[in-house]
Amino acid sequence: MTINLEKPEFNEPKVWRTHHFKQAKQAGRKLTMLTAYDALTARILEAGGVDILLVGDSYGNVMLGFQGTLEVSLENMETATRAVAHAVKKPFVVADLPFGSYEGGAQQAFHSAVKLMKQGANAVKLEGGAARSEAVRLLTSSGIPVVGHLGFTPQSENALGGPRMQGRGEARQQVIDDALALQAAGVCLLVLELVPAPLAAEVTELLDIPVIGIGAGPETDGQVLVWSDMAGMTEWVPSFVHRFAELGTALQQATADYCEAVKNGSFPFSNNYRSE
Ligand code: KIV
Repeated sequence: MTINLEKPEFNEPKVWRTHHFKQAKQAGRKLTMLTAYDALTARILEAGGVDILLVGDSYGNVMLGFQGTLEVSLENMETATRAVAHAVKKPFVVADLPFGSYEGGAQQAFHSAVKLMKQGANAVKLEGGAARSEAVRLLTSSGIPVVGHLGFTPQSENALGGPRMQGRGEARQQVIDDALALQAAGVCLLVLELVPAPLAAEVTELLDIPVIGIGAGPETDGQVLVWSDMAGMTEWVPSFVHRFAELGTALQQATADYCEAVKNGSFPFSNNYRSE
């Protein structure tokens, strides 16, 4: 008897939906996820071929000038979710449930998630492990796909002592147990942030659903980054980020060139206006 060890083929979807995720994992097709907070950027990221757009609550610090994610309101997330979801066709749009909008229990999570789904999200993401199982069950049984988030969970940064590696030592088993509990409750994807690469590899191996890593090494089923970090919009980025472009510098230079051209009278150029 010969055993066929070949991975199944994965046909690129026209529009990403939840049932594609496990198929992608089985086929070894890595998933690409980037944050997006507005229509302009979302359209560019879609044209670049990203699979999943995360309307992350990093919206607060990246776009709104907040100190962190704790200040972000459900209304903020509704606005950003609508902008992104209405701008794109193919990517799967995940919206973060912000701090304070779901921890009170399954009913609260349901009412908050409905608001984001009404703005066009395809799924909501929430932070935390087994303690969120009941909420995940209610949402999924109500037709709302849920994405989990374990490891460093920014909404708990005060309790976790800041952005630090999680899942070391005794905490390792907790991450594994939480991942299994979230999968059993019905999440369709799991984001794993700032955990040692071997732990991320183990969780990825254990779960049937795809694990999307950020600062979690190369063995996960996909990667997520904050788009402005990935594109080099800011001077500083965390060590797990690679800057795939230097858009911040390019935009600054374009601005300087524009200002100079206006001030010296060379803009508008002759092709920018009509003489008659
Ligand atoms: O809000 C966000 O940007 C996130 C990613 C860091 C995963 O949750």
